[in-house]
Amino acid sequence: MDARDLLRLTRTVATARGLRSLRTALRRRRADAAGLPKRGPERARVPGAARGAEPEPGGGVVRFARSSLRVRVAAGGAVFCGWDGALPEPSYALAGPVPEADERAVLEPDKDGGWRVVSERVLVVVGRHGTVEVRTPGGVLLRRDLPPRWWEAEGREAQEGSGARWTQRSQVPADARFFGLGGRAAGPRLRNGAYRLWNTDPGGTFEPGDDPLYITMPVQLVVADAGTHLSFCDNSHDGRVTLQEGEEGAGSGHDRPGRCELRMEGGPLRSWVVVGTPARVLHGWAALTGAAALPPSWALGYQHARWGFGSEREVRRVVAGYRERGLPLSAVHLDIDHHRGHRVFTVDQERFPDLPGMAAGFREEGVRLVSIVDPAVKAEPGFPVYDSGARAGVFVTDARGREVRGEVWPGASVYPDFTDPAVRSWWGGWYAERLAQGFAGVWHDMNEPVSFTAFGDPTLPLSARHALEGRGGDHREAHNVYGLAMARAGYEGLCALRPRERPFLFSRSGWAGMQRYGGTWSGDVATGWPGLRASLALVLGLGLCGVPYSGPDVGGFTGSPSPELFLRWFQLGAYLPLFRTHAANFAGRREPWEFGPEVLAHAGAVLRERERLLPYFVTLAHLARRTGAPYVRPVWWRSPEDRALRDCEDAFLLGDSLLVAPVLERGTDRRAVRLPRGRWYDTVTGEAYEGPGQVLLDAPLSRIPVLARAGSVLPVAGADGRVELEVWAPAPGRTGGGVLIPDAGDGWEPAEAERFTTRLRDGEVVVEREGSPDVGHRVRVRGAGR
Ligand code: NOJ
Repeated sequence: MDARDLLRLTRTVATARGLRSLRTALRRRRADAAGLPKRGPERARVPGAARGAEPEPGGGVVRFARSSLRVRVAAGGAVFCGWDGALPEPSYALAGPVPEADERAVLEPDKDGGWRVVSERVLVVVGRHGTVEVRTPGGVLLRRDLPPRWWEAEGREAQEGSGARWTQRSQVPADARFFGLGGRAAGPRLRNGAYRLWNTDPGGTFEPGDDPLYITMPVQLVVADAGTHLSFCDNSHDGRVTLQEGEEGAGSGHDRPGRCELRMEGGPLRSWVVVGTPARVLHGWAALTGAAALPPSWALGYQHARWGFGSEREVRRVVAGYRERGLPLSAVHLDIDHHRGHRVFTVDQERFPDLPGMAAGFREEGVRLVSIVDPAVKAEPGFPVYDSGARAGVFVTDARGREVRGEVWPGASVYPDFTDPAVRSWWGGWYAERLAQGFAGVWHDMNEPVSFTAFGDPTLPLSARHALEGRGGDHREAHNVYGLAMARAGYEGLCALRPRERPFLFSRSGWAGMQRYGGTWSGDVATGWPGLRASLALVLGLGLCGVPYSGPDVGGFTGSPSPELFLRWFQLGAYLPLFRTHAANFAGRREPWEFGPEVLAHAGAVLRERERLLPYFVTLAHLARRTGAPYVRPVWWRSPEDRALRDCEDAFLLGDSLLVAPVLERGTDRRAVRLPRGRWYDTVTGEAYEGPGQVLLDAPLSRIPVLARAGSVLPVAGADGRVELEVWAPAPGRTGGGVLIPDAGDGWEPAEAERFTTRLRDGEVVVEREGSPDVGHRVRVRGAGR
């Protein structure tokens, strides 16, 4: 027990829940003492020298004295490396069948007794002692994985796929920057230090220094002059990544490479590497782990949530508040307080007597209802969800087969084992109750999974048993994929129950591949300027891990933001995919009118701008699904070679066309904005700026700087609601373009992309639509004549 645990313990045991969480913690400790294998003396193993190799499609297997390495280049260019016989499957991350091998890639002997696989997009060089280098086809080094080291129980034969711990060190170019690893509050650029791979509820709230958080992923995106690559270790066990950026020797030839050490507590040593431009890398990653679920278009509008609405009357009052002020509102979210005693899939009929009626009424005015769904089920005989689950044996058990009890909002609770396909379909069936109540979407919470404990990890015992798709295993392997598997259960349930509508689902916890089922949000970000900054870091970082749809609790989860902070958060949130205010039951109000007339006026303007940009957001959602490119991208997205951009963390690109520079500091009315190359227009003043470089722009309380790329075609909603094209004049001698993927409804109808090009002819802006003589939309040209 460390000091933090001790503090938690003294704070919590004073309450009834505290006592129960103390009991839970003690039970957890006992369960693990009895149910986990004891760790005895261990012996280190390294691969040893290469002995030979056998070719296979796309590469082959290199045999070392004490291990083997399979290298396989897949069609599309992703490289799989699996040690000790590890294969790409089974995997929670991969979307479907493992991609075919690239038959043209062959394993051939290299100098000094090593081997190499040459392919169109990447060159893999395996050294005689097990170093694996990933190089560009031209031979420039992107990543060097040094020979791994396993620690195995002494006396046990080195087995293929054994539960050994292992470490692998890697090197990247000296100028490289690290991104990713899931949702990290201190990002998006990951500073030197250690990052744990263990999905964790920080408990109450978090700030940029808190790590890990709800979504961790062994996914690194590395950006260097030589190129961009993504390295994914397909292993869901607990681990730790230690990063150290390199240093350049100012031309002396003595560069110190960037370093990364991955230390895993067990599980296979296997990885995928994708190389290319950032766009190609994310495309390749989506091809491996699946296309992002397309949110229904209403989920791209503004949403209001609150823990502690308390009653139907209060919810109606808030919705009326938006209506009366003419403020657009797309959805309201009900938190756990609408349940009967916090029991999942129930409604407190006294305080919420007519949810279906309320939902139907809201629906008529274009407001959807979204429900929180927690995985923990109150362990209470007589409660139908518990009874049905207990009968079907769906709950996680301990090593002796007894239900594992945790402590969550409803009190003593049990946890469905979502790693079992039968349990997923049982759980998915319960969403019928939510649909009958009139909910249009779901918000998965507490699925790290959380069990309040007075000390130790606030989750299930590590020895808890899981089905793991029939393979069987324990929480050490299942923990990090629990939220992902729950998302799958919810998504598939909703698809089966309401097949004509796309599910709207977002989940606090998850893992690589979670985008297949929906998005996520920041979790309980602390109210304060650092929390505002962390909000952006999380959205950017998750986007680079393949999860494009996310957003923060606008205003922060705790306390009461100052009017200025609330407004700045609102202005940032308006340009992020999930635009939602939310706060804890113990926090202040978040309705925009609670912050005075000035904030209300500016927030209203932002809300209307978000409405206007909806066709663009819908287009970005489709593009994210089709190409893997997140809506919100770092400013270096199209110019990763621009080192100054790589270090820029206070602005972002929204799609290809817009650059958004939020205000992240108190008392600011001007801010520096770093521009990628090309011409950029301030969308309010129309002023043109030339990048690359830095400009100082006005950022009065009324707005944050938003710039449009010259030549871009931005689909927006016109005053009559029809889509029109806002075209930003190309710079002289340049061309531009854009795409519109119109909303084809909230079902599965295929949406056709319309592509446009722009150019200057005799100083006039010409817009053309590919494959059509007619542009088909009203066009508004901006920035011309500059
Ligand atoms: C924790 C979630 O992160 C938060 O958004 C929610 O309001 C509370 N749980 C209560 O359900």
